[in-house]
Amino acid sequence: MSRLDSFIRRMTSQKIILEHLVDQVNEIEGPILELGLGNGRTYDHLREIYPEKEIFVFDFDMTCHPSSAPDAEHMILGDIRETLAFCGPRVKAKAAFAHIDIGSADPTYDLAIASWLSPLMDERIAPGGFILTALELDLPNFETVEKPEGIHPGRYHIYRKVSGT
Ligand SMILES: C[S@@+](CC[C@H](N)C(=O)[O-])C[C@H]1O[C@@H](n2cnc3c(N)ncnc32)[C@H](O)[C@@H]1O
Repeated sequence: MSRLDSFIRRMTSQKIILEHLVDQVNEIEGPILELGLGNGRTYDHLREIYPEKEIFVFDFDMTCHPSSAPDAEHMILGDIRETLAFCGPRVKAKAAFAHIDIGSADPTYDLAIASWLSPLMDERIAPGGFILTALELDLPNFETVEKPEGIHPGRYHIYRKVSGT
């Protein structure tokens, strides 16, 4: 498969799963966390499909298209490894949903991210809340949720918090 085909398949899967989760996420109280603003494409989509939810976005820097820029209150700048643990006073409630888009093309680096990110995610997600990520996380308080039809196995993971606080 060409890299273009692979990119299109990845973006299509991302959009299908984001939209698939909307009704279930809306049943859970709490904001949405977007980890990795990048160009702002998925943030822009999240704010379209979740008009009632507050969305907090994390990235080292804000380099997105100006039309997709979060306001200052909702943009949390810095290394997520440092900011996620201390965002409580700003974000206030635990999150109903986190979309994690900070993986790399390097499996070793991704394993390193997963090891520091997993416990931080457990702390920040509300009971019943969801995570969508391309990274395989180690989340004992979560179950793996089946993906909608047509999504390539292993490409994305959906986790739901079923125990803990
Ligand atoms: C693939 S891009 C996100 C794409 C974005 N979701 C979109 O649709 O445009 C990944 C982003 O994650 C950010 N990122 C990766 N690791 C990070 C970390 N540890 N702390 C903060 N930001 C990080 C990068 O700076 C980059 O902007």
